[in-house]
Amino acid sequence: MGRKAILDLLAERPGEFVSGEMMSQHLNLTRAAVWKQIQALKALGFEVDSQTKSGYRLVKLPLALDEWILERELRTNALGRELHLFDTLPSTNDWVKDAARNGGVHGLVAIAKEQGEGRGRQKRCWVSPRGGLWFSVLLKPQLSLADAAKLTLVASISVADGIEAATGISLGIKWPNDLLFEGRKVVGILGEVAGEWNTVQSIVLGIGINANLSRQQIGDDIAADTLQAILGRPMNLNTLTARILEHLEVDVEVLERQGFSSLRQRWLHRAVGIGTQAQINQGSEVFTGTFQGISEDGELILAVEGGEKVFAAGEVSVRSEHGTYFQ
Ligand code: BTN
Repeated sequence: MGRKAILDLLAERPGEFVSGEMMSQHLNLTRAAVWKQIQALKALGFEVDSQTKSGYRLVKLPLALDEWILERELRTNALGRELHLFDTLPSTNDWVKDAARNGGVHGLVAIAKEQGEGRGRQKRCWVSPRGGLWFSVLLKPQLSLADAAKLTLVASISVADGIEAATGISLGIKWPNDLLFEGRKVVGILGEVAGEWNTVQSIVLGIGINANLSRQQIGDDIAADTLQAILGRPMNLNTLTARILEHLEVDVEVLERQGFSSLRQRWLHRAVGIGTQAQINQGSEVFTGTFQGISEDGELILAVEGGEKVFAAGEVSVRSEHGTYFQ
């Protein structure tokens, strides 16, 4: 509490020194306690100038995740309004699923600086060291069952737009919802249903972003990349989170009001691999053809001999001619 109140005081006077005396009176803390909190802020990466006569001045904010910074950055109505930032969690998706079962609100967000048991799609594990952005959002949208299933497709558009707004990096979408930079995966999205489909729909969207990590930290995987490596510098994870949640909030509202057809063009605009050869395994059957894009319902369209076939996400695995676009 003391820490956030000190930051509020310093932020109210940007560029100015605030006296230790004034702070201690205002916050009902001893001068020594104020000094101690300032040292704690410095340890967290806040740059604070201290002058014996003038007091303290906030110079620079850290790039690392911080609740105070994130709350000030965030311009949403619901998403992230209830926010839980953890140092470490097994999996933010599991935490948010539990929260959903216990009456968690629409828009609730959990972020972990690292995950011990991060989960990916198809029961894979998701390596989640410190420096990445690992978070989950609880959504209780007003959607039909069919449209709710398209939330992960929509999320891929929102996350790509949020990343572009925060960093200028433009990512492509690999069907159904991986985000790639020059063929290498930077973001994965895991959508899960919490509770029963036939009651109020609670959907947990888990978003994993290789952000402030080196390529070595993600295992030198040639099929993966990090925003830091692409940018050549680390970025502010608070700004990144805020821009993504803002885009997601607006796009979920568009999905609710207008359906997926009004978002489909934006998905196609970022899609990678359209026009290339793809091989689809569905159970024991294998289909080969040209990847044409996605239908109004978000299904993959494959041009095969004698016509077209459509495939829903989750039930197929896809391989491209170069082996890079699809998994
Ligand atoms: C994929 O396989 O591409 C999806 C990866 C999703 C990872 C994110 S990180 C935050 C959230 N918590 C998890 O355990 N998984 C998701």
